Amino acid sequence: MRICDSVEQMRKARILMRQDRRVGLVPTMGALHEGHLSLVRTARAQCDAVVVSIFVNPLQFGPHEDLAKYPRTFERDCELLEREKIDILFAPSLGDMYPEDAMTYVTVEGMSEKLCGKSRPGHFRGVTTVVAKLFHIVEPQSAFFGQKDAAQCAIIRRMVRDLNFPVEIVVGPIVREPDGLAMSSRNAYLSAQERSTALVLYRALSELKECFDLGERIASKLVETGKQALSRERGARLDYLEIVDPDTLDPVSEVRTQSLVAIAAYVGETRLIDNIVLSAK
Ligand code: PAJ
Repeated sequence: MRICDSVEQMRKARILMRQDRRVGLVPTMGALHEGHLSLVRTARAQCDAVVVSIFVNPLQFGPHEDLAKYPRTFERDCELLEREKIDILFAPSLGDMYPEDAMTYVTVEGMSEKLCGKSRPGHFRGVTTVVAKLFHIVEPQSAFFGQKDAAQCAIIRRMVRDLNFPVEIVVGPIVREPDGLAMSSRNAYLSAQERSTALVLYRALSELKECFDLGERIASKLVETGKQALSRERGARLDYLEIVDPDTLDPVSEVRTQSLVAIAAYVGETRLIDNIVLSAK
């Protein structure tokens, strides 16, 4: 595994890869867990060369969010990636990625204000800007993202389509802990008590799904079931629970085709997200 810690090094390494080799990129912010590694393995299986990026992107954090305390475990991440036999770890510095007078952004207007975009203004603009930059620097043929961040996937797909990026977007399934908690770098913030409270996100989604499996199709009724499950857990505070079209992120009133059920909640200070997809036949 080669580590490229500047944009220039990454570009040079990319030129050295034969043009006809299929290069896969897995963008991350580090503090790697099995969710990230499952994407790396999928990339390994589908591509000739795998590039993983680690960059804690300040542009996608709000002024009062957890940028300063976001877990940084670079040494351990390197060991894990070494074991996965990736080709290049791209870990650029902040100054290299964002010159001080940078003033260019990529925004998927409208979609970026939905779901997490509502409570985290500027978040998706930060994501699409950094992902567009990574695509230009690494020039992958395929890029791998997790369903865990379903809205992020939808917004990146739209950006790729609208701006004609020659990149195939591959989405991997959510990797969960044995008890159902979706893996997240932010789970590291949770105390033992909060860790058990955090299970309520998946419980709320599961209860909503049970209601759906019994035949309920009205979105507001399904959402009510999920909200009730969440309200039974003191210590968790709902940010949103919505049923939306997975491509446009627009709310649906009835589940008639595939719909995305997305939840975000605070457990103590920690904001967690999760989702499931409902498929009506
Ligand atoms: P990060 O949170 O580090 O996640 C990197 C990738 O791993 C994302 O595509 C995310 O959806 C995926 N992932 C995280 N947890 C997962 C899980 N439990 N199961 C499956 N996949 C999971 O998402 C970001 O970083 C950033 O926004 C980024 C795209 C790197 C841009 O800065």
